[in-house]
Amino acid sequence: MRIGVAGLGRMGSAIAARLIDVGHRVTVWNRTADKTRPLAEAGAKVAASPAELANQVDAIVTILTNREAIAAVYEGPSGLLAGDANGKLFIDMSTVQPETEVALAEKVRAAGGTFVECPVGGTVGPAREGKLLGVAGGPPARFPPGPPLPPPPPRRAGRRGGGARRLGRRSAYPRAAARFAARAAGLSRRQVPG
Ligand SMILES: NC(=O)c1ccc[n+]([C@@H]2O[C@H](COP(=O)([O-])OP(=O)(O)OC[C@H]3O[C@@H](n4cnc5c(N)ncnc54)[C@H](OP(=O)(O)O)[C@@H]3O)[C@@H](O)[C@H]2O)c1
Repeated sequence: MRIGVAGLGRMGSAIAARLIDVGHRVTVWNRTADKTRPLAEAGAKVAASPAELANQVDAIVTILTNREAIAAVYEGPSGLLAGDANGKLFIDMSTVQPETEVALAEKVRAAGGTFVECPVGGTVGPAREGKLLGVAGGPPARFPPGPPLPPPPPRRAGRRGGGARRLGRRSAYPRAAARFAARAAGLSRRQVPG
């Protein structure tokens, strides 16, 4: 799977570096282009815009400051959704309000993509080592191929953040969601709650 990372702040840079370390083909984009350099030196491709990033990969991880940053990166004139979003998987790891993720999920769905929110616990060190905690929520029916989904777990599955609250309400398969998002981000399965 070709993975893109949009947002190379402290967390995005660490996650992208981790993904490269564990052998993924990674393409990156960041508003401030200088921050792509260390990752390019580590083997990442660099996309010219979020739209180009979406065109070039199968799954895109975003980890951005806030709602405004998410709007700019997803919905700007050369944003992710201006690219080829059809059939692509978008995983937003930003820590934002649940309402922001719900609205974004709908926009991604309308563009033909699949959206998984996965706010993370942990900071740069754990991100670099694949030891973040991820709490994922998303549509189970459209998850990419993988191991068979387990039976629906208890409704209260998450522990923290917007993802956790929404998991209890909306996702029938939060464990599978968490595992998938964790795999996509190169996280360790045993560190994913649920
Ligand atoms: N740092 C942590 O320990 C930690 C832990 C868990 C969760 N989080 C969450 O992870 C997210 C990112 O945190 P971070 O520490 O990596 O932040 P950061 O270092 O400040 O990086 C923020 C990223 O968002 C981008 N950005 C901001 N506004 C933008 C805009 N209008 N258009 C395009 N890009 C924009 C920045 O681009 P530029 O480089 O161009 O400014 C940068 O790539 C936040 O939601 C935070 O709450 C952080």
